Amino acid sequence: MSSASAKIILFGEHAVVYGQPAIAIPVSAIRAYAEVEAIDTPFQIVARDLDNQIITFDGDNPLSQVVRLTLETLNQPIPDISIAVRSDIPIASGLGSGAAISTAIIRELVHYFGGSLALESINDIVYEVEKIHHGTPSGIDNTVIVYEKPVYFMRDLPIKTISNHVPLQVVIADTGKAALTRYSVGDVRKLYEDNPQKTKPTIEKIGQLTQEARNAMQMGDTDELGRLMTENHALLRDLTVSSPELDVLVDTALAYGALGAKLSGGGRGGNMIALVTDESSKQVAKALKSAGAVRIIETILERT
Ligand code: MEV
Repeated sequence: MSSASAKIILFGEHAVVYGQPAIAIPVSAIRAYAEVEAIDTPFQIVARDLDNQIITFDGDNPLSQVVRLTLETLNQPIPDISIAVRSDIPIASGLGSGAAISTAIIRELVHYFGGSLALESINDIVYEVEKIHHGTPSGIDNTVIVYEKPVYFMRDLPIKTISNHVPLQVVIADTGKAALTRYSVGDVRKLYEDNPQKTKPTIEKIGQLTQEARNAMQMGDTDELGRLMTENHALLRDLTVSSPELDVLVDTALAYGALGAKLSGGGRGGNMIALVTDESSKQVAKALKSAGAVRIIETILERT
């Protein structure tokens, strides 16, 4: 069986589409899985979480494209196998479910053929497929998921990993509202085109915050990191990609002792993250649940 992790964006979503830096970390505890379940059968993918929906090789499902591109890259024929796909990552929630499923399928195909594929090649394929999902993705989601390392990401520049001086404890809370990244990215694009005087400085300010956040991570200054996260959330709200549910969860986390909180990913729904301490973690998680979060993940980004 092959798998790939979920991700969260700590800083810089949306601004990253416009060339600003962003910081993303993998959430290895939550994963998507792909497994060859039967052989000597016409090729198919079975989506276990979607009522066992069958995806064929020739179809226009993005996962069919994952398979076509992978076989082309591996220079292999269509195999007579059935691959089952399932995922613990909620769909359309800002946690990278699409990129993780694509990555898991590629890994399983590579494993089936007994070959190997450089991370860079896997990343290229997932990025191609992300374009079908998102239109104009920056590439950050596929990169953090394929490399499964914290990244400081800038479009079209070599991938940089990022180190944090102290472990970062975060609570991730799901609004339960699915929201497609494609729409929020499209709306920010419209805002940018209609009102560049207002939108450009907001995007640049997010980029500046992200650079400051990198320094704070490297210094182990979690108070500063929290403050920057909350500031980043306010700027994302200015870009219209927050939602009443996300704002309630952010305010709740702050009221219950989080060092900072913000939406994560495309926004409009999906997940938010709060930076917490050992002392505040439990009470923040509990308060977020009472404030309407449908799922809570507590995780630690270890010192790197
Ligand atoms: C989505 O996880 C992150 C966005 O910045 C879109 C992208 O970078 O492609 C909203």
